[in-house]
Amino acid sequence: MPDPRPRRILVTSALPYANGHIHLGHLVEYIQTDIFVRFQKLRGHAVVYLCADDTHGTAIMIRARAEGRSEQELVADMRAAHLADFAGFQVAFDHYGSTDSDANRRLCGELWRALRAKDLVVSREVRQLYDPEAGVFLADRFVKGTCPKCRAADQYGDSCEQCGATYAPAELIDPVSTLSGAVPEVRSAEHLFVTIEALHGFLADWTQASGALDPRIANYLAGHFLGEPLRDWDVSRPAPYFGFEIPDAPGHFWYVWFDAPVGYLAATDEWCAAHGGRLDDWWSRDPAGRPAAEIHHFIGKDIVYFHTLFWPAMLEAAGLALPTKVRVHGFLTVNGQKMSKSRGTFILARTYLDHLDPAMLRYYYAAKLSGGIDDLDLNLEEFTAKVNADIVGKVANLASRTARWLEPTGLAATYPDDGGLFAAAAAEGEAIAAAYEAGDFARAMRIVMQAADRANAYIDAEQPWKLAKAGPEAAGRLQAVASVALNLFRQLAVYLAPVLPRLAQQAGDLVGGPIRSWDESATPLVGLPVAAFVPLARRVEPAAIEALLAASRPAEPSEPISKTRTTTQGGPPMTDTPQGSATDPATPLEAEPLAAECTIDDFTKVDLRVARIVAAEEVAEAKKLLKLTVSLGGDVRRTVFAGIKGFHDPATLVGRVVVVVANLAPRQMKFGLSEGMVVAASGAGAEGVFLLSPDSGALPGMRLR
Ligand code: MSP
Ligand code: ZN
Repeated sequence: MPDPRPRRILVTSALPYANGHIHLGHLVEYIQTDIFVRFQKLRGHAVVYLCADDTHGTAIMIRARAEGRSEQELVADMRAAHLADFAGFQVAFDHYGSTDSDANRRLCGELWRALRAKDLVVSREVRQLYDPEAGVFLADRFVKGTCPKCRAADQYGDSCEQCGATYAPAELIDPVSTLSGAVPEVRSAEHLFVTIEALHGFLADWTQASGALDPRIANYLAGHFLGEPLRDWDVSRPAPYFGFEIPDAPGHFWYVWFDAPVGYLAATDEWCAAHGGRLDDWWSRDPAGRPAAEIHHFIGKDIVYFHTLFWPAMLEAAGLALPTKVRVHGFLTVNGQKMSKSRGTFILARTYLDHLDPAMLRYYYAAKLSGGIDDLDLNLEEFTAKVNADIVGKVANLASRTARWLEPTGLAATYPDDGGLFAAAAAEGEAIAAAYEAGDFARAMRIVMQAADRANAYIDAEQPWKLAKAGPEAAGRLQAVASVALNLFRQLAVYLAPVLPRLAQQAGDLVGGPIRSWDESATPLVGLPVAAFVPLARRVEPAAIEALLAASRPAEPSEPISKTRTTTQGGPPMTDTPQGSATDPATPLEAEPLAAECTIDDFTKVDLRVARIVAAEEVAEAKKLLKLTVSLGGDVRRTVFAGIKGFHDPATLVGRVVVVVANLAPRQMKFGLSEGMVVAASGAGAEGVFLLSPDSGALPGMRLR
């Protein structure tokens, strides 16, 4: 049963900065929000999904200057790029605004007047570093110098990465502007502050007792901020600044973090202008404090402070509705580490789309997101194995194994006896919905995949391909089995529609028409025609992952292996076997004749295992060696020195699955003990040492036989 009463739900994702492209880290948020929105819409609720570009601030101003064009031009280009990236991943906003809009300027003014009216704005002199060459006040990250505490060189203006000290930029020793290299001056300027301490009681209540926050976030706020007076919030910047000039303070601009969340209101206002209704329909509250609608903000854990203290304080001061939920997620790591340009794991949305199917990332993220604030790891090995197993092997396979038997006949006129399979999965609909609602998409995916397993077991048992060969007397049975299978497939497609909108659409094209409601998971279809089957999903090949990483690495002209690397950026890396391109070498066996015959026993003496490279480093003193740490599964690790230096960049090896001789007698080398051997191919016809990769799905510890 769907929820009895439709809810009105306003959903936002944080507004991405207009000074950079969307990457896979951002997409943790946008995909997650989009799944939530699609789920709520499928349940029949009135949902509006809003976002916008966050356009203001020093960084944009500086970048526009460096590129010799206006901020508006830069912002317009980035907006087009962002929109293309989001569309590529099927992130479907109902409206995408900009903080540099008329609506936002007007609404900033309204909130500002409310703060003034409540006497929450004060003015103070602030000593700040000023770059006399660039002619701008320097935001903390545009200043570097020596840490005043530990004297570490080359530290940013606000904190020291060596000792962790925080300080004011003016305290740095020997500061330098990173914009011009000039020595900054300390200048005094007037800034405007919001005295949010006046709302301390309100914020303590709202953060701890409203239910809007995960208890871990509430505790963090209580422990770090609410135990002492809240510091005044500096909301203005002196000219020059790219932003809105404050109407009653000429020469002063609202700080980017003041106007950014107001962008949520502005986007709502613009959506209302286009679709009817007023801002109040979504953001007002009645005298008892009840909000007009639900408001859900999805944000990353780095911007909790702004969304759980400043933003509610502004809304409260203006008498607007407060967020129903602020849903905080963790950060993306790739192969267990922070995204890194040199490792090729700083992957832009665009680059991903050039190599892989967006549906696969949507599913993988869904399967990893459980609604908490923990970081999420994109392990590329696991990604490949999981999406291939689940999307291709379990879901798409269900249709591809059965649909064609129904092309001539269509679905059976009455739903056949399926041993209760459809009803069992239908009965799980509410549990799946509850998991989506809670943001525990991982749980939703687990329940769905268990249903998929049962459906596949049914087909394995019924063997429709045998029925098809058995002639006319089996035709009825074949139609029944295929009708069951296709109904189970479509039922899964309904449950997966929030995550995999394209698959849902393809399922509808195949049979039954567009999936419009969650209810469609409750009743099997009968007697309908079945369209010609078109393949639904392709396996992710390790070569595509390699190519993605290669395309994500900055071009390194000095790389020693350039002579064997014949492909350009974006193409498959040198470790790929040439795919139907070069003709095979004519006489490789003359160059290296086959070894003497061996028996199977000889072969099995050599224990070849699948292993994952978990660390790789150069051995400085050795010309040819890389030191690799490989995992044989569990916590079995081996150190192996491999003669592949110059052919493989250590950074890109981490995460790769290879084959090792696991029972080779350990050998003491000058640099350490080598406990095995990584298998690679080399020989006539091409220069290089080519590591072997198993098909996707192979796991560390598996034996080669
Ligand atoms: N412009 C601000 C938000 C203003 S909201 C009124 C901002 N922009 S951002 O582009 O840096 O980030 C946008 C969202 O993406 C944030 O919620 C941020 O936490 C999230 N992520 C950015 N990088 C991320 C990862 N590597 N991993 C997960 N989420 C990340 O912050
Ligand atoms: Zn320090």
